[in-house]
Amino acid sequence: MSRYLPELEHIAREAGALLMSYFDRHIKIEYKGEVDLVTAADRASEKLIVERLKEKWPEHGIVGEEGTRSHTGAEFRWFVDPLDGTTNFAHGYPVFCVSIALARQDDELEVGVLYDPTRDEMFSAERGSGATLNGRAIDVSQTTRLAEAILGTGFPSHKRHKNPNIYFYHQITLRSHGVRRAGSAALDLANVAAGRYDGFWEFNLNPWDTAAGVLIVQEAGGKVTRFDGTPFQLDSREVLASNGLIHDEVVEEFREIFAGRDLDPLPSPVEYARGRT
Ligand code: IPD
Ligand code: CA
Ligand code: CA
Repeated sequence: MSRYLPELEHIAREAGALLMSYFDRHIKIEYKGEVDLVTAADRASEKLIVERLKEKWPEHGIVGEEGTRSHTGAEFRWFVDPLDGTTNFAHGYPVFCVSIALARQDDELEVGVLYDPTRDEMFSAERGSGATLNGRAIDVSQTTRLAEAILGTGFPSHKRHKNPNIYFYHQITLRSHGVRRAGSAALDLANVAAGRYDGFWEFNLNPWDTAAGVLIVQEAGGKVTRFDGTPFQLDSREVLASNGLIHDEVVEEFREIFAGRDLDPLPSPVEYARGRT
């Protein structure tokens, strides 16, 4: 019996229900930066999760996206994203989740849950025990070639004009069955774990975006690294997750894109319409 999961899932469900009580209502959007949104729902969800974690595990540290920094020197620290997918949420687009994970000071991930209240989907994992979706074991996909893969990626809300990911998006779109950009990095990782995506990558994520999802992918049999294939760590920021089978091919594509390999020349719209490409 897990030391954490039943209670953690309960907390994530409570937070998800709270988010749903704000969703569809007129949501007042505030800005943390020029385009970095935050809503009352983000803050209320973090408050609830932090209260519950402190009640259950008072000796643990907590790092929350909306500002919680509590006992950060503790051996065990929780990483909390109270609402991953805020931009979707604020626009009424139902793709968002709650993400909570526990890591040791040495970055070893112990347990993680991601709850999508719009679909009532609870993704969970504990180190060494596999990953589940609503209590049933999940595995990554069996796709062996990038050409037959579907992947996810994301773009940050800030510094978009400087983000090189558009080149990666372009190139991987041409080389695969397609790239989705759904707006919740945590759910993107969950989708890799559940075999719905064969891979996912993003630049510049924070530990609260990735901690739970990374453990869930690993426990579902997937692989998570930096873009050059070296091991992922919580402060890596960049993340490349896959079913493991297409990983080397994606790393090789990334190496070529970083090296500035020329992209295929673009056809004119007329040539494209004539099917000459
Ligand atoms: C964002 C989402 C989005 C990703 C951004 C994140 P937030 O988190 O995960 O998919 O592209 O980089 O910041 O701000 O909605 O918690
Ligand atoms: Ca996030
Ligand atoms: Ca968030």
